[in-house]
This record gives sequence, structure tokens and C-alpha cells, in this order.
Amino acid sequence: MADSRERDSLTTSRALVLASGNPGKLAELRRMLGPLGWGIRLQSEWEIEEAVEDGATFIENALIKARHAALRTGLPSLGDDSGLVVDALQGAPGIFSSRYAGKHGNDSANNSKLLKALREVPANQRLAHFYCAMVLMKHAEDPAPLLATGKWHGRIVDQPRGAGGFGYDPLFWVESEGCTSAELNPAVKNRLSHRGQALSALVTQLGIQSPA
Ligand code: IMP
Repeated sequence: MADSRERDSLTTSRALVLASGNPGKLAELRRMLGPLGWGIRLQSEWEIEEAVEDGATFIENALIKARHAALRTGLPSLGDDSGLVVDALQGAPGIFSSRYAGKHGNDSANNSKLLKALREVPANQRLAHFYCAMVLMKHAEDPAPLLATGKWHGRIVDQPRGAGGFGYDPLFWVESEGCTSAELNPAVKNRLSHRGQALSALVTQLGIQSPA
């Protein structure tokens, strides 16, 4: 649990910068943080360059991104690093999820490459999970950032289904709902997803109460 002084400095402003340029993530986080009275903005509004994500794990990259955004904007920052971990591919695409096919954020090329890599893999061995590491830094030199993680288990289907979400959603089968994550209502995705799990753990640590 954050101590009361930390909580006060953050909860007074209730303004965060998201250390990402991904509008899909922003929309999901706004849906979750908006009702708690928090404003969250993309770092691209400041026209700052992207951080160099050279960590070896999701957690390291989340810290790098959050520190960079806090330094450049002067605001508390939320750094989120996430991706898809496929068992049959020894954890790939992992931290390279957004640039699996070479170009950062080319979802359809990434999905095609994944389908190709799994072409010979039978359905019962196409297990995967989305993983999310989320870090909240009160300022760029914060020595004790809040950290939470989330994992969402599923399976990779053999052709895309659904038009919602982003990234690998059209290929990620959610057993409990009987559809891909691209076919889920956004509120349901937020409740189940790796990012939803990480954010709610972070919010719990911070002890945030909704404003009256
Ligand atoms: P990041 O912006 O460096 O965290 O990269 C995240 C990448 O992982 C995205 O570009 C997607 O390819 C993938 N990813 C993360 N979360 C999701 C999700 O909820 N649905 C689909 N793909 C995701």
C-alpha cells in the first residue's frame, strides 16, 4: 500500500501520462481509470520521442518507459509493457510483440507471421498468454515505483476472428467466453485481460478511492 504522503501527492492531481503512443491502450485505460476520476493522456501529446526499450523483460521495459515519460513531461507516469507469450514458440513474440514482423505496431503483419510460425502446431498445443507489467512512477527519480503484473491465458486460433481490440486480439481465443478477444465487448476484455488485472492490482496498492 502506498504511504499517505505518496497517495496525497498523486490523488490531488489525478493526472497521469501514459508512457505509450498506443491509442488502443489509452482507450482501455481511460475506461478503467475515468470512473475513478483520473485523467490519463498519451505521451505523444507532448511530441516527445519514444523511449528506447532495451530491457530483457516486460518489467524492465515498463520501468524504462515510465521513467522516460515522467522525465519528459514532469507528470506522474504509468508505464505498461505487454505482449503475447506463446508456449510452442518458447515465449516468442514476448517483449518483441509489437515489432515481431519487423515494423513497430504493424498488427496485420505480426498476426500473419504468428499464424505462419504456428502452421504445423496442432490446436491443443497452441497455448499462449498475454502478459502485462505496469509501473506507476510518481516522478522520474522515484526509487520505489508501484509495480503490478497480469496474465491472461488463451489459445491461438488458425485464422483471425473479430474486429475489436488491437494487436493479436483476432487470434487470441478466450475459452471462458467462447470467442476471440477481438470479439469481446470492451468492458468484458478489461475485466479479464492482463492489463485489467495489472491495473486493478495497481489501483489496490495505491488505495485509490473514487471521488465522491
Ligand atoms: P508495448 O506497447 O511495447 O507494450 O507492446 C505491446 C504489443 O503487444 C502490442 O503492440 C500488441 O502487439 C501486443 N499486445 C499487448 N496487449 C495486447 C492486447 O490486449 N491485445 C492484443 N495484443 C496485445
